[in-house]
Amino acid sequence: MKVLVVGANGQIGKQVVKKLADKNHQVLAMVRKEEQRGNVEEKNVTAVVADLEGDLSPAFNEKPDAVIFAAGSGANTGVDKTQAVDNRGARKTIDEAIKHNTRRYLIVSSIGTDDPNNGPEALRPYLIAKSQADQHLVQSGLDYTIVRPGMLVNDNATGSVNAAEKLKDYSNNSITRTDVATAVVEMLDKPNTHQKVIELVNGNTPIPDAIGNI
Ligand SMILES: NC(=O)c1ccc[n+]([C@@H]2O[C@H](COP(=O)([O-])OP(=O)(O)OC[C@H]3O[C@@H](n4cnc5c(N)ncnc54)[C@H](OP(=O)(O)O)[C@@H]3O)[C@@H](O)[C@H]2O)c1
Repeated sequence: MKVLVVGANGQIGKQVVKKLADKNHQVLAMVRKEEQRGNVEEKNVTAVVADLEGDLSPAFNEKPDAVIFAAGSGANTGVDKTQAVDNRGARKTIDEAIKHNTRRYLIVSSIGTDDPNNGPEALRPYLIAKSQADQHLVQSGLDYTIVRPGMLVNDNATGSVNAAEKLKDYSNNSITRTDVATAVVEMLDKPNTHQKVIELVNGNTPIPDAIGNI
């Protein structure tokens, strides 16, 4: 499959690119600066330079079959960038996918996005922005999966998760970025994950089984 990874230079994005390439997918790795090409290019990976706040045609003119959105404005920017990247930027990629008939779309969202007003006050602008992007995707008509990981950590991968449309137990609310990347790549070609919101934290079930049981 030809897969466009948005946010390919990010911590999850880089791992998604690598895992897709290892599975012999043809990867379009979207980075926002020319000098980032070398960070992502390898066998099966072509970098495309585009900015979510600018023209996305360099990415979508390559006619991807699927999009994985793993970009984010990050914790060190203000509400303006949260709106520009997490909300408008994400919605723009959804509109481009519709326009170019790219049917499959997976977004890395966040636990808490279903009820932003219940989240911690400092996180509310972020959760609202992500929630608006998620709602746009639900209404898009695309074959979407909204992946909502808990708090991201950089520990070693465990290979095991709890995954459900709505988790019953939030006593462990974190997940490693590597396990998120593995789970997203696992979902890419699994029709049972279409039209679903999937919450994801580290847990006890091997990732392929957890995704298969959704
Ligand atoms: N932190 C958490 O606990 C948490 C929890 C749940 C979900 N999430 C979500 O998980 C996702 C990925 O997280 P992560 O830790 O991998 O993030 P990350 O390392 O900060 O990566 C984000 C990527 O987005 C790119 N980006 C930012 N603005 C852009 C723009 N205008 N145009 C194109 N690309 C742009 C960045 O580009 P540069 O490399 O050029 O900076 C970076 O590569 C995000 O959607 C985040 O909201 C986070």
